[in-house]
Amino acid sequence: MRIDHVAIAVNDLDEAVKNYRKVLNANNIEVEVVGNEKVRVAMINLEDTRIELMEPTEETSTISKYLKENGEGIHHIAITADDIENDLSRASENGMKILGQLRPGSYGRKITFIHPKSLNGVLLELCEAPQRKDSRPKYDSIT
Ligand code: CO
Repeated sequence: MRIDHVAIAVNDLDEAVKNYRKVLNANNIEVEVVGNEKVRVAMINLEDTRIELMEPTEETSTISKYLKENGEGIHHIAITADDIENDLSRASENGMKILGQLRPGSYGRKITFIHPKSLNGVLLELCEAPQRKDSRPKYDSIT
């Protein structure tokens, strides 16, 4: 497992991207609206991880509520899983409080969250990237 991204809740995405570009030497930034999470995100791709800036697109977004209660700041840490179904059922068996079903996140990933109460105040996202074209197939075909 490794850190896929650290996510930061922001009020104004474009302004936040400008701020982070003042510090980070990162030109590879992808912006995307994630409809089911009601956020617009900018992924700032660093050498071995990413920073995700998130701006709510609607008042009913959980990020909107988060910003009202806490202001801007680190919202969650995301860990990549090789086999998210497996990691999720293990976490669940170990008594972790899972927040919602496995669902599509940004960039074609499968995501879910573990409640901060289960992890010492940190909201943890588990995510699994779509298979890369150059990677080994998960199951070898029967020949
Ligand atoms: Co995330």
